[in-house]
Amino acid sequence: MPRTIVITGASDGIGAAAAGQLHDAGERVVVVGRDPGKTRAVAEPIGAPWHIADFSDLAQVRQLAADLLETYPRIDVLAHNAGGIFGERTLTGDGFEITFQVNHLAPFLLTALLHPRLAESGASVIQTSSVAARRFARFDIDDLQAQRHYSASAAYGNAKLANVLFTKELQRRWGSEGVNAVAFHPGAVATSFAAASSGAWRFVYTNPVTKRLMTSAETGGSRLTWLALGTPGVDWQPGQYYERNRVARTSTLADDPMLGRALWERSAEMVGL
Ligand SMILES: NC(=O)c1ccc[n+]([C@@H]2O[C@H](COP(=O)([O-])OP(=O)(O)OC[C@H]3O[C@@H](n4cnc5c(N)ncnc54)[C@H](OP(=O)(O)O)[C@@H]3O)[C@@H](O)[C@H]2O)c1
Repeated sequence: MPRTIVITGASDGIGAAAAGQLHDAGERVVVVGRDPGKTRAVAEPIGAPWHIADFSDLAQVRQLAADLLETYPRIDVLAHNAGGIFGERTLTGDGFEITFQVNHLAPFLLTALLHPRLAESGASVIQTSSVAARRFARFDIDDLQAQRHYSASAAYGNAKLANVLFTKELQRRWGSEGVNAVAFHPGAVATSFAAASSGAWRFVYTNPVTKRLMTSAETGGSRLTWLALGTPGVDWQPGQYYERNRVARTSTLADDPMLGRALWERSAEMVGL
């Protein structure tokens, strides 16, 4: 029986590739994007339903959760893949630093609002994190909005470390309810990533020469597909971080349960839960 697999950031790149692969594997894919035209263009050829939400606006994330709850009696996989790196420090209309909100706070809110459905379905929650968590994070639980220190790389590394901290804390909190969480790095993938960024990041991800050295979206997407098709506890270990379909090393901070708890509690406070 096909399962319902919700993928955010599925209008482009890794998410779009995974949506196609999971459809080909016989699963029922739900395509979530930000731009209606791009999202429809991915969803229609595979006959998938689609939904729109801009994660820089938390009201749209709340509406998305309500729509998903109303439309899908089961959610077997929730893949948090929407994300990216930005340029100058920018605050969203909700008042949060945009890298932190789009990559962590919005998926945190969506997961919390879907909690009962995820538990009833025994869902897997997958986070597209990054090796940037280990390379660039300068994580400070008392400066989540990067008021004291901001660089695009550090903000991105911090947000991707937040993905892993959230994954591990989710496993500790909801694992006994049958919800399983996992995070992964898709590789350095030639996608539209960093289009909203500037400087070296934008150069590396838009230059045809450097892009040729990267992995394809199909290969990056296949890392997500492997986790989405896999059985937690059999094919992959709940609460772990993966690279190339293997448990991998990330920032040592990811293994600090006090930090995971503090991030969860502060995130809940920020989104008003
Ligand atoms: N590419 C890499 O080398 C790499 C490496 C490690 C991790 N990652 C992670 O992989 C994930 C997918 O990235 P990608 O490489 O496939 O890049 P991409 O082609 O730019 O796709 C990013 C997806 O996220 C969506 N998105 C961006 N900002 C959003 C917002 N404010 N609200 C809602 N959706 C938003 C995009 O929507 P639009 O189509 O409207 O832009 C798109 O669907 C990201 O989380 C990224 O951080 C990428």
